[in-house]
Amino acid sequence: ALPRTLEGVHVAISAGGTREALDPVRFIGNRSSGKQGYALARVAAQRGARVTLVAGNTADLATPAGVDLVRIGSAVELREAMHEVAADADVVVMAAAVADFRPVSLTGHKIKKTDGDPDPIALTKNPDILVELVAARRPGQLVVGFAAETGDETTSVLDYGRAKLRRKGCDLLVLNAVGDGKAFEQEDNAGWLLSPDGSEIAIPHGPKTQVASAVWDAVTARLTQPQ
Ligand code: C5P
Repeated sequence: ALPRTLEGVHVAISAGGTREALDPVRFIGNRSSGKQGYALARVAAQRGARVTLVAGNTADLATPAGVDLVRIGSAVELREAMHEVAADADVVVMAAAVADFRPVSLTGHKIKKTDGDPDPIALTKNPDILVELVAARRPGQLVVGFAAETGDETTSVLDYGRAKLRRKGCDLLVLNAVGDGKAFEQEDNAGWLLSPDGSEIAIPHGPKTQVASAVWDAVTARLTQPQ
């Protein structure tokens, strides 16, 4: 049996992708499978945590044993659910793939086919839930974010990750290199754990449960360290 290092700790985890409705039957979505968030929930529960998993659209995944599941659709619903659950959580992990934008207006009826060109879809920005959760953080609460980055000629994946950690203000950032079929919809993952004190832990390439274990090891070290 695993050591129950998260006994008495309430963790709130978001997973999967949001769906931004255009009309009653259509939405804008993304390819997030939810596998990394579900792996985080499973490992946390195995380590004794009370786990609330807030899930958007995911692949066909079984709810891990002992985990409370809350279903959401859109980013705005996810925001509401996360604020509610975070108010009672010791650790908050934003592993969901939140749509950056949503349609300005939701058409009450199915959008009709027209002979001419369709109207463009007007979009508006969604709230950054992670930034909001950091701002609303309770004393002693840890907030963990995710970043999926690609590097380019001028800036490395790590530099993009460091900048995102500063911008979001979270206590830990799980940085994944993406592109070339990495991370999204895959069974495996790899990356780094970045924290504001400058520490950078490389996570070796492996199953998403292994990445989850690395995250909970780092969280446990911070929870037990005097603040
Ligand atoms: O800015 P970017 O989307 O790369 O940041 C990723 C992190 O921010 C993830 O933890 C994701 O769950 C969170 N996020 C959020 N609200 C958004 C966009 C991203 O909480 N609107």
